[in-house]
Amino acid sequence: MCRSLSRSLSLLLSLMLLDDLFNLHRSSIALQVIGGNATVVLGETAILPCKLTDTTELLTQISWQRMTRGKPVNDNFFTVTSSGSTYVNGNDRRFKFIGNFDAHNGSLQLSDVTLLDEGSYSCIFTLFPSGNHRTAIPLNVLVAPITSVKNYHPLMGNEEDLLATCTAAGSRPPAEVKWTYSTLSEKVKAITNSTQHADGTTTTVSSLFGVPTRDINQQPVLCVVTSSALSKAETLLLTLQVHFSPTEVNISEISKDSFECSTEANPNASFTWSRPGQSWPQSAVRVDGAKLQFLSITSVLNGLYKCEASNLYGRKYGQLYVYVTSGTCTACWVLFSLLLLLIPIGVGAWWYFKKHPRTFSRPSGEGQQEETENL
Ligand SMILES: *[C@@H]1O[C@H](CO)[C@@H](O)[C@H](O)[C@H]1NC(C)=O
Ligand SMILES: *[C@@H]1O[C@H](CO)[C@@H](O)[C@H](O)[C@H]1NC(C)=O
Ligand SMILES: *[C@@H]1O[C@H](CO)[C@@H](O)[C@H](O)[C@H]1NC(C)=O
Ligand SMILES: *[C@@H]1O[C@H](CO)[C@@H](O)[C@H](O)[C@H]1NC(C)=O
Ligand SMILES: *[C@@H]1O[C@H](CO)[C@@H](O)[C@H](O)[C@H]1NC(C)=O
Repeated sequence: MCRSLSRSLSLLLSLMLLDDLFNLHRSSIALQVIGGNATVVLGETAILPCKLTDTTELLTQISWQRMTRGKPVNDNFFTVTSSGSTYVNGNDRRFKFIGNFDAHNGSLQLSDVTLLDEGSYSCIFTLFPSGNHRTAIPLNVLVAPITSVKNYHPLMGNEEDLLATCTAAGSRPPAEVKWTYSTLSEKVKAITNSTQHADGTTTTVSSLFGVPTRDINQQPVLCVVTSSALSKAETLLLTLQVHFSPTEVNISEISKDSFECSTEANPNASFTWSRPGQSWPQSAVRVDGAKLQFLSITSVLNGLYKCEASNLYGRKYGQLYVYVTSGTCTACWVLFSLLLLLIPIGVGAWWYFKKHPRTFSRPSGEGQQEETENL
């Protein structure tokens, strides 16, 4: 008797449990609030989707709440009834009801999205008689980075130095910043750093290091920035710059009466022609940057001309010796002796001598030495 009572009790309990399970199952099929996950790029328009399905109950109101970066405390901000929609707690007119009350569609649109809008939005359907049914819709705001590259143009040397940086500023989520330098892979390396800002964005800087030598000067490198906030990767081209003072100065003949001074330097050298110890033959000579042109061939021109190439790191000289043969014969013309004598500091002297192909007489313009000077 005692045993049969306990058996019927446990049967009853199992039946109640089954019934509960059945009810639970049935109600989860019967009524659903379907939301979604909204992702939008800063400044654009987001859709917050929300839909109530499978109910025959009376819908009395759709309301929206938010908990965002800008409104960290749960904030009621919008309601919709059969007679229309209203703003609550201030009019944030960027929200617009785009659903359909009768169709149980509670979707909202949010335009001009800012970082402060990021957070969780709750869509609540109030039914009679069962009450409130809600779902949460996370809103993620993406921010495209501002990208830039910067050259540090180190001075030529033997020590590793910062060559360039590539920056993806204020990105959300963090951007990936990569250098492409296939031809230089042995000579440079990249180090990437990132900083997170209070507004949730991240700045990523990739620094390119290497020994600043002549062979990496003027080499092109690419910086590639990728981010889910960018529709496609951004590629920035940079030409590496290694700064150095003027190398040897060459003077070449560019036509029968004009000469040009050249050198290698970074930044480009500027050129100055002068006549050491002699007055400048104003009317017979024209100077245009690196070019020296003789306007009339007279003995006034005779003497030494000096071309100085300089940039902010140093200066070097080249020389030209001019001798005009005397006499009336116009064909008996000029003698040129290009004399270039350089003393690179710490290396020793070497010199370069060029013969003029049309020289009629050729006195030797010997032994002019010029000191070079490094700043
Ligand atoms: C929503 O989507 C974003 C971006 O795709 C993802 O990072 C986030 O985890 C998703 N959130 C949820 C709740 O699914
Ligand atoms: C709800 O309305 C929005 C805006 O009109 C629409 O894009 C969406 O497809 C609708 N949702 C459903 C489930 O009908
Ligand atoms: C990267 O960040 C660390 C720590 O903030 C700093 O010490 C380092 O100098 C940075 N490196 C570069 C290449 O900016
Ligand atoms: C100067 O002339 C030498 C010999 O012709 C040449 O090797 C060098 O590249 C020239 N330098 C410049 C700066 O033109
Ligand atoms: C430097 O000189 C080179 C060769 O003459 C020229 O191609 C280049 O444009 C110059 N660069 C600048 C910045 O003036």
